[in-house]
Amino acid sequence: MIKPLLIGPFTQLLPMTGLPFKGALKDEQLPIIENGGILVSEGKILKVGVFDELKSDAVDVHHIEGDHVCLPGFVDSHTHICFGGTRARDYAYRNAGKTYLEIAKAGGGIWDTVTQTRQASQEELVQGIISRSKKHLRNGVTTIEVKSGYGLSVDEELKMLRAIRQANEISNVSLIPTCLAAHMKPKDWNQNKEYLEEITTVLLPIIKTNNLAHRVDAFVEESAFSPEEIKPYFQKAKEMGFDITVHADQFTTGGSQVAVDFGAVSADHLEASTKKEIQLLAKSNTIATALPGASIGLGCAYTPARRILDAGGALSIASDHNPGSAPMGDLLTQASILGTFEKLSNTEVLSGITFRAAAALRLSDRGKLEEGAQADFVVFPTDNYQEITYHQGQLKPSEVWKKGINVCK
Ligand code: NIG
Ligand code: FE
Repeated sequence: MIKPLLIGPFTQLLPMTGLPFKGALKDEQLPIIENGGILVSEGKILKVGVFDELKSDAVDVHHIEGDHVCLPGFVDSHTHICFGGTRARDYAYRNAGKTYLEIAKAGGGIWDTVTQTRQASQEELVQGIISRSKKHLRNGVTTIEVKSGYGLSVDEELKMLRAIRQANEISNVSLIPTCLAAHMKPKDWNQNKEYLEEITTVLLPIIKTNNLAHRVDAFVEESAFSPEEIKPYFQKAKEMGFDITVHADQFTTGGSQVAVDFGAVSADHLEASTKKEIQLLAKSNTIATALPGASIGLGCAYTPARRILDAGGALSIASDHNPGSAPMGDLLTQASILGTFEKLSNTEVLSGITFRAAAALRLSDRGKLEEGAQADFVVFPTDNYQEITYHQGQLKPSEVWKKGINVCK
């Protein structure tokens, strides 16, 4: 075993352990270790506890000078950071009052990014993912889910998934790939059904054989795929062993019912969810994922996070970082702002970007600081964890550790 390294002392260490996976959380429930330390070896956590009590186990010590708060590295469970080009024109049009249809007619919308992504080489996509994930890492995000979905043909979707895999090999951040070939009907296909058959019978088997992703997502929406259209696709994906996740209830409802029916790991967006969908999700094991970055980017309503938690649901919060609806790409800023609009406790916000987000990706080895977990953690220069959301993303980490290595000093 490589010699154990002790990191600390931290004025406050938030292990994010011992908290329930579902339901509302009060700050009184938040475990805090004062003058805490983390003992790390070979990229994993050996022990978490009071710094002075861990000293005898350590061979080396990385001393933290001054007041600092340490918590698990953030997990961003929903992004689209593999893309080519920009959609700044869409943003300007939207803010000038143009409708979705007018923007699409002017050549904007998801299809614009599909065109720009198809024009990019795999290497250019890799560079884009790397530079975006570096920005996320500096803000404390150590695991990022990344969707395809701007290729919309077998070859172009594979190019995206290969770019994500290549970027993951180079990046300090863990990148978790998801196939979103069912993002919209490509304009070069006449019918939703035919396109879905193509990706079911040709694309998914290649993804499976080459282990390019173990998650399948679809945009269930009037402008994309109806619940009825998507069911055979999800059925086949499930039979092949893929985890299901859904872009659900963004503008119209229907997607969350599909998510629950298929035992999806998560239903994401949910801005249009009503009491019925909230109850449905709360009773299920499907994690509700709020995407405040899309609400901010589009100027739309927030996901009813408070009501989801009060109904007993599990809430993850993700950035949805993409060139169209969520160009900002700053998880902590967005989660903090969601907290102000939805009246979330600090514990609910921080849970939503740590262990509850990890659960949305079925990752049990991160999002918590405990023995055996990956040594992924983020350090903020403050003596009080409440300062982290209070500064709404402007209090930046002083250190970010990934698999036991200080990757952002
Ligand atoms: O999650 N809602 C669908 N897909 C993305 C937006 C994609 C885009 O506009 O490029 C989302 O918001
Ligand atoms: Fe999305």
